[in-house]
Amino acid sequence: MSEGSRPVVLETVAAVREAMASERASGRSIVYTPTMGALHAGHIAHVDRAAEIGDVRIVSIFVNPMQFGAGEDLDRYPRTLDDDLENLGARGVPYVFAPSVAEMYPTGPSQTVVSAGKIGTLYEGAARPGHFDGVLTVVAKLLNIVQPDVVTFGQKDAQQLFLVRRMITDLNLPVRVEVIPIVREDDGLALSSRNRFLDANQRRAARTLSIALEAAASAAERGLDAALAAAQGALMGEPLVDLDYFKIVDPATFLPVDDRHKGRATAIVAAKLGSTRLIDNEMIHLG
Ligand code: PAF
Repeated sequence: MSEGSRPVVLETVAAVREAMASERASGRSIVYTPTMGALHAGHIAHVDRAAEIGDVRIVSIFVNPMQFGAGEDLDRYPRTLDDDLENLGARGVPYVFAPSVAEMYPTGPSQTVVSAGKIGTLYEGAARPGHFDGVLTVVAKLLNIVQPDVVTFGQKDAQQLFLVRRMITDLNLPVRVEVIPIVREDDGLALSSRNRFLDANQRRAARTLSIALEAAASAAERGLDAALAAAQGALMGEPLVDLDYFKIVDPATFLPVDDRHKGRATAIVAAKLGSTRLIDNEMIHLG
């Protein structure tokens, strides 16, 4: 496929299996990027990296109802398939898997569910009960359908990344995860499909999340309490930010660290701006 032409859109599981089997039979490695569409520069970083590490790229676009709770933003989640195909075509992506809900869940909501366990009930999981079971179940299904050599996941969704890696290890899934760094706006705001819902004041206030993470990173050499206090100071100054949590977790367990923890840690933050929930994170070094 020449760059600039639209990807082949596969709508069925059978069509994906056939296309990927034929690529595999020709000796080509497959790099897969699962998305819910509404693609932005953060997603483009995935497909650009995918081009460097494998032969054939495939992106799925599927807004997975199983990972949205009652009253969440499933209906208002942006759906921009036409623009997405244009963007992926411009980056030379040859295949898009864009199934319907009926194609993914032909017998209704999945009866077999991958449990995200205890970590799946913390942080994002506490705010969105069942969310990570829905994510892991659809990711397991998608990996079984595409059977890629490599799958890309973003550092932006740090808890999701942790849980997907655990699932891959726990269930011996034959795929390697390539982690894609967070892409940020000039003022530090992490790119997210939900940023488009922010009004001008909320957009300005949203940069407080990355400012708080930076403050924690700068203070971290002085220990956990100093890092948490620095973040708190940054967040308290912005009334439009309705903080859900700011935590510092051990990257190996995703549990909160205590003040004996030294070295690498992940600072994670979630807040609501109006009705829009944003998350962000940064690797810090506790002294
Ligand atoms: O990160 C996302 O966009 C979604 O959670 C994913 C991994 C595509 C599963 O629906």
